[in-house]
Amino acid sequence: MSRSKIAGIGYYVPERVVTNQELSGIMDTSDEWIQERTGIRERRYGKKHEETTSTMGAAAARIACERAGIDPSEIDFIVFATLSPDYYFPGCGVLLQRELGITKSEAGALDIRNQCSGFLYGLSIADQFVKTGMYKNVLVVGSEMHSMGLDFSDRGRNVTVIFGDGAGAVIVQPSDNPEKGILTTKLHSDGTYAEKLAFINPGAHGGYHLTKMGEEFDYGYPPADTYGEIFITEKMFRDGQYYPNMEGQFVFKLAIQKFPEVIHEALKETGLQTSDISLLVPHQANLRISQMVQRSLGLRDDQVWNNIQKYGNTTAASVPIALCEAWEAGKVKEGDLVCLAAFGSGFTWGSALIRW
Ligand code: COA
Repeated sequence: MSRSKIAGIGYYVPERVVTNQELSGIMDTSDEWIQERTGIRERRYGKKHEETTSTMGAAAARIACERAGIDPSEIDFIVFATLSPDYYFPGCGVLLQRELGITKSEAGALDIRNQCSGFLYGLSIADQFVKTGMYKNVLVVGSEMHSMGLDFSDRGRNVTVIFGDGAGAVIVQPSDNPEKGILTTKLHSDGTYAEKLAFINPGAHGGYHLTKMGEEFDYGYPPADTYGEIFITEKMFRDGQYYPNMEGQFVFKLAIQKFPEVIHEALKETGLQTSDISLLVPHQANLRISQMVQRSLGLRDDQVWNNIQKYGNTTAASVPIALCEAWEAGKVKEGDLVCLAAFGSGFTWGSALIRW
């Protein structure tokens, strides 16, 4: 079986910069708290009614195509990862396809919902399709418009200050050198703690799981024999129960355990050591998480790419944005061993090793 490689990469972030200072004028938070706990100084917010998750994804995809030397019409397959889709359905994959003007092509489109590890899942899917010879140009996009779905009241401050908007994309193609390209991808999940970091409403059956877990909840669902009115109830609107929720410390502790674990797993499979890693590009969840992972792997500061300070956590977009920035800065050179890793809601986590 041949290898696949990242042949082109691009990213897009909206123009509007939102500083910690600006957020502290809206909710009870401060620049000091946010920087100390997360490392974030600012993030970007898309232009409401002008930009969406799929249009930002398309902007990143156009750059990735150009750098891969292909026209968007040559894309065989699209994998779109997001937790903030334009519509409940259809997914962003087909909307991006239309945005790129390639609706007459033969390309298929797949949407995946793996939150912060969505890009790694997408990359792995692309890798399998290309390695087996099924497709030659697979577009993988991670894009998020978080700003449309955050709680800007004090109640939501622990989540809202962390997240930002943006998009990243890659084109995966067959590698002509068997030594180079994606060496391995490792994917994991465990739904035991699904509700620890979740966006429960609107959903069709959120109450079912919570009842089974013995949790007290009251989303104002109509009686069990009533149909309709299930996605959003009046009570959800009244009580603001349609925002993401997170148990931050629980997520933090699991993240610092799973990141190194899944990186070691990829290294072991490929017979490599942490000392072989040229650059680690971790999902940008929290600067303190990245620093703890760095320390546990024994990597120097210049071997880890962090940009959470500028963009916050952009979930599915964070790994491709960071990888693209590192590449543009000349930090990813031919022959380098690049390690990607992510952890997030689900929980889902994964890693990839790429010989550039
Ligand atoms: N501004 C000011 N104070 C805030 C705040 C904010 N934005 N958000 C929470 N606080 C307060 C809390 O209310 C709490 O106050 P209390 O002590 O009076 O009860 C205090 O700060 C500490 O809250 P806590 O949640 O324990 O803080 P923390 O040190 O765990 O930091 C996170 C919070 C969210 C930054 C941190 O837990 C984290 O980054 N977790 C991982 C999140 C993550 O990676 N999510 C994405 C997964 S990919």
